[in-house]
Amino acid sequence: MTTKQKKILVTGGAGYIGSHTVVELYHSGFQTVIVDNFSNSEKRVLDGIKAIIKQPVTLYEGNCNDETFLKNVFQQEPDITGVIHFAAYKAVGESVQKPLDYYQNNIGSLMTLLKVMSAFHVSNLVFSSSCTVYGQPDQLPVTEQSPKKMAESPYGNTKQICEEILEDFVKSQAQLKVTLLRYFNPIGAHPSAHIGELPIGVPNNLVPFIMQTASGIREKLTVFGDDYNTPDGTCIRDYIHVVDLAKAHVKSLYYLEQREGSSFFDIFNLGTGQGNSVMEVIKAFEQIQKEHLNYTIGPRRSGDVEQVYANVDKAGTLFNWKAELSLEEALIDAWRWQKA
Ligand code: UFG
Repeated sequence: MTTKQKKILVTGGAGYIGSHTVVELYHSGFQTVIVDNFSNSEKRVLDGIKAIIKQPVTLYEGNCNDETFLKNVFQQEPDITGVIHFAAYKAVGESVQKPLDYYQNNIGSLMTLLKVMSAFHVSNLVFSSSCTVYGQPDQLPVTEQSPKKMAESPYGNTKQICEEILEDFVKSQAQLKVTLLRYFNPIGAHPSAHIGELPIGVPNNLVPFIMQTASGIREKLTVFGDDYNTPDGTCIRDYIHVVDLAKAHVKSLYYLEQREGSSFFDIFNLGTGQGNSVMEVIKAFEQIQKEHLNYTIGPRRSGDVEQVYANVDKAGTLFNWKAELSLEEALIDAWRWQKA
């Protein structure tokens, strides 16, 4: 079967990373089927995707926790050859308030998906995990072998538990091949400005907050602490352009297809390999805008790690992938999206 005919189910395909991945799959000749319940996304994202790929998109609206619904999708689309599972709740703070919702949604949907994939003999799965599993690493940059730390939040715990479920399931006689992708900090938007991040309410994340401050929706950005043990005192993260991240999913699918045998499990960091501080991000944005950003230094945010950035050699070697877009390009694209 050629790539042209291959059909990939993308759960959470209307979400931030999901929508960009759908676009990159099309560009690489895949067909896609989106499953989304729009719990944290909007229907107009599909219009954005259509505007880029100039084709209709196939959507099944529903919840991955719903086995009957999911079975129906696989029945209607018998030629699905692989799944990219994005659908999950992702707000750290909210997960502390509503832990059961997070465990139910994130773990329940993975278990249901695995059961249904198994029943329909679909064996390739790309799973969205997070660098949150490393907590504050003892050594930087973090490799895939770096020890996992106690989760700081129910959200982080759901990612750790899902990772373990996948590993156990593959170790059983399951016919399943998995690449588990640990994302660092995705930022930016598609350069067309047709799709990007759509934070609901007050953004938790740095870059959407910067964009809303620059556009006047928020009065000012608070930098959460400048007394960390880093060169400028602010936290360091590995910010990766969402389009680079999306492309890594396509590469990871190719990689899975080339694995021989019926079961496989491996973990990959997806970042740029470079750390930037909160102040460096602000300064980079000010340089692009040629304008001062209204910000103030506030107290630390509880649960924040001081610094984390990735060693990405493994994805580089095995996927033949690396992040190509700079922090500046990501900020320019995020700003273009904000204005759109
Ligand atoms: N920050 C601010 N002000 C803000 C928002 C963020 O100073 O208004 C700082 C944070 O303190 C942190 C950095 O910007 O130092 C990045 O914060 P984000 O919230 O953008 O990203 P995090 O690294 O905290 O969170 C990301 C993902 C989570 C994941 C976590 C794991 O968004 O899903 O990494 O490390 F759990």
